[in-house]
Amino acid sequence: MTESRLNGMVAIITGGSSGIGEATARLFVEHGAFVVIADLQDELGHQVVASIGAEKASYRHCDVRDEKQVEETVAYTLERYGSLDILFSNAGVVGDMNGILELDMDAFDDTMAVNVRGMAITMKYTARAMVARQIRGSIICTASVAACLGGTGPHGYTASKHAVVGLVRSVCSELGEYGIRVNSISPFGVATPLACFVAKTDPSTVEAQTSAISCLKGIVLKAKHIAETALFLASDESAYITGQNLAVDGGFCSVVNRTY
Ligand SMILES: NC(=O)c1ccc[n+]([C@@H]2O[C@H](COP(=O)([O-])OP(=O)(O)OC[C@H]3O[C@@H](n4cnc5c(N)ncnc54)[C@H](O)[C@@H]3O)[C@@H](O)[C@H]2O)c1
Repeated sequence: MTESRLNGMVAIITGGSSGIGEATARLFVEHGAFVVIADLQDELGHQVVASIGAEKASYRHCDVRDEKQVEETVAYTLERYGSLDILFSNAGVVGDMNGILELDMDAFDDTMAVNVRGMAITMKYTARAMVARQIRGSIICTASVAACLGGTGPHGYTASKHAVVGLVRSVCSELGEYGIRVNSISPFGVATPLACFVAKTDPSTVEAQTSAISCLKGIVLKAKHIAETALFLASDESAYITGQNLAVDGGFCSVVNRTY
């Protein structure tokens, strides 16, 4: 039987219909949490909830660019489950793939609207709920290796993920007062629909590409590795950890390939 590291806790997971968010929703529920999946992909979201079990998870259509929808999702969570202990603000888009010479500024704005503004909105309403109820909660945002290095993603995406780390540090500096922890996770390439779209290839090729340039060999990065990191940051095992950007990248951002 799985040890319950989130026993009875309540989490909102944005972008939980697919990829990293979906894997995290499943793992959180395995560890005793109640989960609200907030996403745009309604059919997929409902399927995930049905396979997890409707007594432990629910789905809300929520576009994180829309402040009202986020506010309603938080209100729904509080009404249905009576608390909000964890936010996994994970919804993200890659956006425009053009170089700077052909950059589409509307697409750039949309990337920032989802990846940065959307995360700020989810943090705002979650923090309001936590502060008002004196919940010593955990807020976790999904950044990326593109938050640490240039050249690992399109310009808008890279700028947005750098901004996520700045937002996390800034909000952390305010919410520590209330015992609320704020951290981010920076994954390397995981074979989700998003990564396959960027690499214009299939999941096994994404995994092969990540493995080829990772420092750490003999292991393939999976969504479950990111979910396990989110579980750690959500649980009391990380009780004194805040303001951190935890890279789950096999050393990719920290080292160069050995040249001697
Ligand atoms: N897969 C990777 O290699 C990788 C690496 C680093 C960071 N990330 C980040 O991980 C996060 C999750 O991505 P993933 O790889 O699981 O991709 P994914 O495409 O499987 O999941 C992203 C989810 O976000 C949802 N979403 C997009 N825009 C939204 C919006 N406006 N409102 C609500 N939901 C929205 C999508 O519908 C989708 O279900 C993203 O923030 C992404 O930038 C992914």
